[in-house]
Amino acid sequence: TPLVVAIDGPSGSGKSSTARGVAERLGLANLDTGAMYRAAAWLAMHEGLDLADTEGVARLVEAADLRLELDPAHQDVTINGHDVTTAIREPAVSAAVSAVATNLDVRANLIARQRQIIAEAPDGIVAEGRDITTVVAPEAPVRVLLVADPAARVARRHAELGEHVDAEAVHDQVVRRDRDDSTVAAFHDAAPGVTVLDSTDLTLEQVVDAICALVPP
Ligand code: CDP
Repeated sequence: TPLVVAIDGPSGSGKSSTARGVAERLGLANLDTGAMYRAAAWLAMHEGLDLADTEGVARLVEAADLRLELDPAHQDVTINGHDVTTAIREPAVSAAVSAVATNLDVRANLIARQRQIIAEAPDGIVAEGRDITTVVAPEAPVRVLLVADPAARVARRHAELGEHVDAEAVHDQVVRRDRDDSTVAAFHDAAPGVTVLDSTDLTLEQVVDAICALVPP
């Protein structure tokens, strides 16, 4: 059976770069589930929906044609024909995504899509997000919760966004999303059998090495 590697972690834990690195090293596909929640939030805003209208947002997401490229080097995202690859990284989407991700009907729909993508990956896949080790792929032979000190996560996010961005704004963004996401029960604590990896003092290559070392022979 194709290998499934599940990686979870909070904002700035480095899970996206780590998942890409592991997928490239092992020749696997790469699924960024956060991009699916971001695309859902983008679409709801694009359609002018009130994000508090949980039924309306869920109906929109359930009917959406959402396509993700699974090549780690080329992760384009389109929703209802709109290429949203860069738009979903914009601050307005980052600020709104938790409101859509805490919508339980949206989660049920996206989780079902994620399970199908994982089941259909012919050469195996690295799936990355917040609830992959606990909910989406709890049977994955490799499951990792990536953690890092908040200060390290803020510094990484700041480096990603660019030095022109105000440090305090980045700090607020990371801390606020931790809080907004904390209402989703599945994000709490590592489940039994999940390897907790603290990346605070590790380079990206060291984290990728550590995860690849968990792959059963
Ligand atoms: O930007 P960052 O790395 O923090 O997050 P992301 O992986 O792009 O995910 C964006 C948001 O999507 C998270 O803050 C969660 O609200 C939501 N999400 C989720 O609910 N479940 C997942 N499996 C992945 C992301």
